[in-house]
Amino acid sequence: MSHLEQCYNIADLREVAQRRLPKGVFEYLDRGSEDEVALAHNRRAYDRLKLRTRVLVDLGNLNTEVDLLGGPSALPLAIAPTGIAGLCSYEGELALAKAAAQAGVPFTLATGSITSMEKIAAEAGGRLWFQLYMWKEEELSYQLVQRAIDAGFEALVVTVDFALGNNREYNQRNGFSIPFRISPRSVMDMCRHPRWLVTVLGRYLTTTGMPRNENYPAKYQHRITSGTDQATPMRHSSMTWKDIARLRDFWPGKLIVKGILRAEDALLAVESGADAVVVSNHGGRNLDSSIASIDALPEIVSAVGHRATVILDSGIRRGSDIAKALALGADSVLIGRATLYGVSAGGQAGAERALAILRSELRKTMGYVGCKTVSDLCPELFEGSIATPVNGGVFMATDRDERAENGK
Ligand code: FNR
Repeated sequence: MSHLEQCYNIADLREVAQRRLPKGVFEYLDRGSEDEVALAHNRRAYDRLKLRTRVLVDLGNLNTEVDLLGGPSALPLAIAPTGIAGLCSYEGELALAKAAAQAGVPFTLATGSITSMEKIAAEAGGRLWFQLYMWKEEELSYQLVQRAIDAGFEALVVTVDFALGNNREYNQRNGFSIPFRISPRSVMDMCRHPRWLVTVLGRYLTTTGMPRNENYPAKYQHRITSGTDQATPMRHSSMTWKDIARLRDFWPGKLIVKGILRAEDALLAVESGADAVVVSNHGGRNLDSSIASIDALPEIVSAVGHRATVILDSGIRRGSDIAKALALGADSVLIGRATLYGVSAGGQAGAERALAILRSELRKTMGYVGCKTVSDLCPELFEGSIATPVNGGVFMATDRDERAENGK
């Protein structure tokens, strides 16, 4: 039995990832920000939601397929943008994208990835979305967006919850900031993980050289170990809704605004031309005092769910978490760390394993609650009256019916 077959859940994949990756890389992937309150909150929020079974429903044709932003998806999920996959495994972004294509779900390539978007578009297959962090120099951002258009990406995911950066002190301690600091500590860390050194870093060094952020504009394409601060020019702290409207005019495909936690921002996103919003606290990696994203979901679904696609992320580790998000009105979810653990544990096969685990758990949950299709997942499944899952806000079951009628 392979080591992946012995991974029965996402937590098992996480354990393998932890053994294989240098501490600096693993903690960058795994941890949150500051005191990691938001990270814990995200998990607690799912655990608090309890479902009631519905029995003796004929589940013969149980189907997890959805129409997601104009295309089919075999599961109600897409892989989230994470700039680190290429250091978790050799060409990890390509491995993730191929795993997504294999599973029939969309893959999102992050601006900060180390595989170029052109290579992903040429080799991955499947549905591809591109995530954008805007540069201070606006024309550089538009050049990048033009590259995504030319490469054939179907959706643009604009991340908006990163204006002034984050506070992840362990990265500083581990020397895993951007740029990566070569220090006695980080060298020791890498030497303690010879498999990673040979099969990931060593493979880059003997082929394409030290990894670099291939999607950055030429003038910022330093190696990840170079001495200049590459992160600074990316942070667009003066970005406003006008930028979203302008991107809307420029980008021909679906436009997704990621990092929304309040109904009025969701409304502004839709009024600025977004086709979808991602309700997200960035996996607990940015504002540590943040509300759990699933707690913000019902009010956002009520505000824009009939006009736009609502996607949820942050903290999903089980198929039942996906079922809960959909029952609260999300159209789909994004998966961040779960597939990163998978790709770290075993490249493309590991990412496929993570998706297979989530699929199997989602199907089982749907079976327990007697839902044959994803659109059967509804607020009535929660214990008691789901009128008050969070915030005392009322979420009406009829919202989903109304959305179905509107062809969403
Ligand atoms: C991220 N995330 C992220 N988001 C984004 O818009 N651009 C990015 O470059 C990154 N990079 C990134 C790196 C790593 C290591 C992680 C874990 C996450 C956030 C990501 O898209 C998503 O919002 C969260 O990962 C969702 O939470 P879970 O599923 O990881 O709990």
